Amino acid sequence: MNNRVHIFDTTLRDGEQSPGVSLNLNEKLQIARQLARLGVDIIEAGFPLTSPGDFAAVQAVAKEIRGITVAGLARANVKDIDCAWEALKGAEQGRIHIFLATSDIHLKYKLRMNREQVIEAAVAAIKHAKKYTSDVEFSAEDASRSDLEYLCKVFGEVIKAGATVINIPDTVGYTTPEEYAKFIRAIIEKTPGMDTVTTSVHCHDDLGLAVANSLAAVGVGARQVEGAINGIGERAGNAALEEVIMGLHTRKDHYGLTTGINTQEIYRTSRLVSSLTGMPVQPNKSVVGKNAFAHESGIHQDGVLKERTTYEIMNPEQVGIIANNLVLGKHSGRHAFKERLSELGYSLNEEELNLAFSRFKVLADKKKEIADQDLQAIVEDEIKHIPDTYVLEYLHISTGTSVVPTATLGLRVGEELKEEAACGDGPVDAIYKTVDKITGFSCTLVNYALNAITGGKDALGDVTVKLQCEGNEKTYTGRGLSTDILEASAKAYVNAVNKLIYDQK
Ligand code: KIV
Ligand code: ZN
Repeated sequence: MNNRVHIFDTTLRDGEQSPGVSLNLNEKLQIARQLARLGVDIIEAGFPLTSPGDFAAVQAVAKEIRGITVAGLARANVKDIDCAWEALKGAEQGRIHIFLATSDIHLKYKLRMNREQVIEAAVAAIKHAKKYTSDVEFSAEDASRSDLEYLCKVFGEVIKAGATVINIPDTVGYTTPEEYAKFIRAIIEKTPGMDTVTTSVHCHDDLGLAVANSLAAVGVGARQVEGAINGIGERAGNAALEEVIMGLHTRKDHYGLTTGINTQEIYRTSRLVSSLTGMPVQPNKSVVGKNAFAHESGIHQDGVLKERTTYEIMNPEQVGIIANNLVLGKHSGRHAFKERLSELGYSLNEEELNLAFSRFKVLADKKKEIADQDLQAIVEDEIKHIPDTYVLEYLHISTGTSVVPTATLGLRVGEELKEEAACGDGPVDAIYKTVDKITGFSCTLVNYALNAITGGKDALGDVTVKLQCEGNEKTYTGRGLSTDILEASAKAYVNAVNKLIYDQK
């Protein structure tokens, strides 16, 4: 049996179904480009029929990304499939991904169809999709709670109709590794034609078993794993792809399988997804959490110093975590800055480099030593921007234990400087009320998170906010960086408002 596992990334589709996550076109493209650098085999860029935004994202990713399959999701009907293909047709390799539920519970309560009708609809859908592309995936939604004999019958029929990938989702995160492995093995053995297609798995994490279930399935013959970066997705999320990948990589002795992934891009991908979705990564998260490679106990530290492998099964460099090297300072020139960025894996165009270098100079005036992590934060912040309608020009805060916090600030819109002042419950509240006064939006702060990029009192503060603004049901995430956390808070809020404006345009 072939030993190459295909990695199917659904961060932009199932991942974007995470509550409160909404990415704009520009952000989706940035993630797709990074997924391409990571080396995934398939990017599921969206569900085109569901919204013009999803359609545009699939279309843009399909048009730009080369050398990787781009998939679009569709229900088993002509309208969905036509729409998916319309979005995908610019792709070098486009895949139509059709799903239809097969469990009795879904048939009875959701679809109100009988088993024969589901087979008929699935077969018709595959045949229709095949008119557009040879690469058609069929997902039996809620497969893990479906009757095995019936499921094999459905799969046999869709394979006859031309499906090339058969996906067996654990849609509700119900199965266990032993049970799922047995189920997948039985499907592979019993379904006619299953040896001619790729067996795929797609697991949700409701019981915290998505990665374990995916790996168990791979152990019995599945050769495509679907999941999302950082495990984001519907409800408790999807299988965390970085964990699946490092599981296969680190335990190659056990699985004997390979992927096409460049593991050194894992950390960068995780950070990008976290910062654009506004979903923080928990510190103790496997592979990409802040503590994943931190040794706290004296015995462990001693062991690692003597021989790394005593307590480390992977090393941070393998996943692209860079050491907190103190590399540059106030007197470092443009050349050294550019060199260090390229060593860190960034290749910026002239304009991006100029912007990032002036940010670096401002930071170097405030912070004596600049670490690699500061550089990484500056670059990510600088090159991710959508057009900025509002730019923070200045900020003045009056606050203390016995005064009413008051903010005065100026935002530049093109040539014009708009100024306002407002009081609030605290300095951040005062800033946000002032921004609302200037922009005319009335926004609720759904989430606010502050992180320090490095240690030290002069560390860069990294603020992420999530806003919901009146008259718009979507939430917008914004990020701001500064050694002054009130300035970072203001920038994050303005960044979110700029995204709202960009979206409205
Ligand atoms: O969880 C699920 O069943 C899905 C399908 C659409 C593949 O996301
Ligand atoms: Zn799913």
